[in-house]
Amino acid sequence: SSNEMWGGRFASGPDAIMEEINASIDYDKRLYEEDIAGSKAHAAMLADTGVLSADDRDAITQGLETIRGEIASGGFAFSREREDIHMNIEARLAELIGPAAGRLHTARSRNDQVALDFRLHVKSALERFEAGLEAFIDALLTKAEAHADTVMPGFTHLQVAQPVTYGHHCLAYVEMAARDLSRCRDAIERMDECPLGAAALAGTGFPIDRHQTAAALGFREPTRNSLDTVSDRDFALEFLAFAAICATHLSRLAEEIVIWSTPQFGFVKLSDAFSTGSSIMPQKKNPDAAELVRAKPGRINGALISLLTVMKGLPLSYSKDMQEDKEQVFDAIDSLHLALAASTGMIRDMHIDCEAMRRAAGHGYSTATDLADWLVREAGLPFRDAHHVTGRAVAIAEARGIGLADLPLDDLKALDASITEGVYSVLTVEASVASRRSYGGTAPDNVRSAIALWRERIERK
Ligand code: ARG
Repeated sequence: SSNEMWGGRFASGPDAIMEEINASIDYDKRLYEEDIAGSKAHAAMLADTGVLSADDRDAITQGLETIRGEIASGGFAFSREREDIHMNIEARLAELIGPAAGRLHTARSRNDQVALDFRLHVKSALERFEAGLEAFIDALLTKAEAHADTVMPGFTHLQVAQPVTYGHHCLAYVEMAARDLSRCRDAIERMDECPLGAAALAGTGFPIDRHQTAAALGFREPTRNSLDTVSDRDFALEFLAFAAICATHLSRLAEEIVIWSTPQFGFVKLSDAFSTGSSIMPQKKNPDAAELVRAKPGRINGALISLLTVMKGLPLSYSKDMQEDKEQVFDAIDSLHLALAASTGMIRDMHIDCEAMRRAAGHGYSTATDLADWLVREAGLPFRDAHHVTGRAVAIAEARGIGLADLPLDDLKALDASITEGVYSVLTVEASVASRRSYGGTAPDNVRSAIALWRERIERK
């Protein structure tokens, strides 16, 4: 049989493969709420502008409500023959209310319809990520508050570099998450334009009111160019770019959790709620959630590259290629949602072993820079000379298997006669972090003022 929506000029129905390659209902049914909201706003506007009778509008609105109930309760029979969510709903509407259903598609095309549904979906996902990022930031700030004074090794090249505080480390992730939040809000702001009414590609001759539908659907204003509107997927690309960067941050945090929770590091213990056991090794507690968060960029980066590749070189305006925009965006939404929620939960529950962190902070001659700085400050040495003297001190201590602070004063004096007893006060890890008071540095007082600043900003929004 030929198609119920466009069968007029068709003598036969589609090949089975045609139907299979063409159908998107298996995944775009996820857009049913948005599709129904869009159709209701469109019908209301058509009635207000005199294109549709009030009776038809009421029948359409009620029918759409019935369909929403059927889909929500799982009682709706989705059909691949009806291709996508738009035609599944419209065909069901015709079954329910008869000929009035055929008037709903006046002054509209599936091209502006799908652009609307998809944009609404991405926009509300981003709004949920705003809230998710705020919760994540809150968990990090709470940890930072508890550990403004907790000393741990700071790393470069994953080698012990200089002591830092765990609070400062948490705040590094707050900075990343805050940039993610700002990218998220920025993208919402830019996509806040309503596609409905662009019609197939050229607009319509009916006296529609696009400002009315834009407002009804919660957009700031309608889009300005009908050709661009039906062929634009920047909003989805921007979501994916935001998601890829955010997931990258979460994967770095996850990697640190994986490393830090090994017995060799022992900096953190994951809660039972965020670990798994082994079916053979009874002693095991594995950081599976952290590993999965670490892996999510595989899917999300894939989605970004996939959609960029689908869109590149497409001539204006709509092409069916663009139907390939949805599945991976949906997957990226779900993946990022899980990654963010699991990261927030892990941070919130994680036990910090302050003693293990402090012990590790003292290893690896982490206060060598403090000794060099002391020589510059107290003995007037140029930094490069101070660096050399300190390097020799480290070599001697290392040969004896002791720390810098354990070197007798006479040995230090042999390296540079101006060294005095006072030098020992800068060689502890606590003194080291306390001295790093430069703006943005790791000193506990800096950490506390940064926390206060972020608390104020997040609460103020
Ligand atoms: N399912 C289609 C999509 O996702 C809807 C738009 C179809 N428009 C068309 N002219 N074939 O893009």
